[in-house]
Amino acid sequence: MKQIIIEGNHLLSGTIKIGGAKNSAVALIPAAILAKGDLKIKNVPNISDKDALIEILDLLNVKAVEYQNELLINTSNIKNALISEQLSNRLRASYYFMGALLGRFKKVEIYFPGGCNIGSRPIDLHLKGFEALGATINKEGSKYIIEAKELKGTEIYLDFASVGATINLLLAAVLARGKTIINNAAREVEIENVAKFLNKMGANIKGAGTERIVINGVRELHGAEISVIPDRIEAGTYIIMGALIGHNLTIDGINPNHLKVVLNKLKEMGVKFKTNKHQVTLTKTNQFKAVNVRTAVYPGFPTDLGQPMSVLLTQATGISQFEETIFENRMGHVPNLQKMGAKIEYERQHATFHGPNKLHGAELTATDLRSGAALVTAGLIAEGTTIINDAEHILRGYERIITKLSDVGAKIKIVDV
Ligand code: EPZ
Repeated sequence: MKQIIIEGNHLLSGTIKIGGAKNSAVALIPAAILAKGDLKIKNVPNISDKDALIEILDLLNVKAVEYQNELLINTSNIKNALISEQLSNRLRASYYFMGALLGRFKKVEIYFPGGCNIGSRPIDLHLKGFEALGATINKEGSKYIIEAKELKGTEIYLDFASVGATINLLLAAVLARGKTIINNAAREVEIENVAKFLNKMGANIKGAGTERIVINGVRELHGAEISVIPDRIEAGTYIIMGALIGHNLTIDGINPNHLKVVLNKLKEMGVKFKTNKHQVTLTKTNQFKAVNVRTAVYPGFPTDLGQPMSVLLTQATGISQFEETIFENRMGHVPNLQKMGAKIEYERQHATFHGPNKLHGAELTATDLRSGAALVTAGLIAEGTTIINDAEHILRGYERIITKLSDVGAKIKIVDV
């Protein structure tokens, strides 16, 4: 098991470079198998989720060569194959091979996906969409066999603006016969990144990034190149750290337009920062105003930053209310923060913070990727040493986090125990 050990209270100064967005990259890699030929994905983050997806490409006889942060993929010898439970289970994004293999081969055999333990995370909206396109779904235990004689375009209404379902249905519809309309589509910027890649392959998608996406099916897709957009969640996490313990800390390589709601909330708390085209620079603020935070689908406050943001709320003067509206079990960080001295009342998806609280180091356990990021954030400002167990969760989504933080002055290391 991996343990992160942090000696708190060291100012962070210098520049942290943001990598490609995990939640884009994990969709772009499966999307590549829809095309015949060579594909290049640039700015791919070096995270364990990426490695898991390359293992699935290998199983499908798809060649993937990594060169620094570029991934060169060739699908000439692709062969459809059952995606094992062990591989399906490694991450939530394995489910994008449902849409991609269904789109390419009209058949996919795969197990229920893995992913962070933040709720039941059903895939009913994905499956209903595939059926609407003409697929039949058979389930044997946790194995899904999804196949279609032909995929025919249709009008789909998503009950919830699901990121995963929107992307999966894009992947299934681009080679379907006729027009597909996805209503109540998710509007996250990662969806635009995937649609841009598919259109560069020769697909015909309009409206990505809005709640209504129109896909006109085409016969075949060809090789293309795409760059993964900057990771707005990684950037937001480091920006929150900068607000708490930065001294002229610059977060570089971001797209501030993707972080407007987060930067606005920090401004509301009294956080001072300078932004330019691709950077935000912060110095820690001594007093934070209490605020209310409610997560929502894009362009609302991102659920993935709710946990790191909670650390900031422990330092705000007064009572802050926090509401998680996307996942039903995303409070794994709260008992850990209480152990560090934070005064928080919580039940189910609501938490009330009574701040400010001086946090002290403790031995903690990461329950999922973003709660792990919150514990690192808390460890950086706590008095004394913080130990975070099950740190593997954090490495799934934060490229070189130990190096990036050490390079700007954090006293942090990772050990195998
Ligand atoms: C994606 O998860 C991200 N993961 C999540 O990031 C992110 O929190 C989430 O979108 C929301 O932005 C990846 O992109 C790999 P959803 P996804 O489908 O696709 C319910 C991180 O930390 N739902 O928008 O699973 C679901 O249970 C991860 O990087 C159904 O009920 O999110 C949840 O309550 C965590 N049925 C809500 O919708 C379905 O068929 C949002 O899910 C699908 C979803």
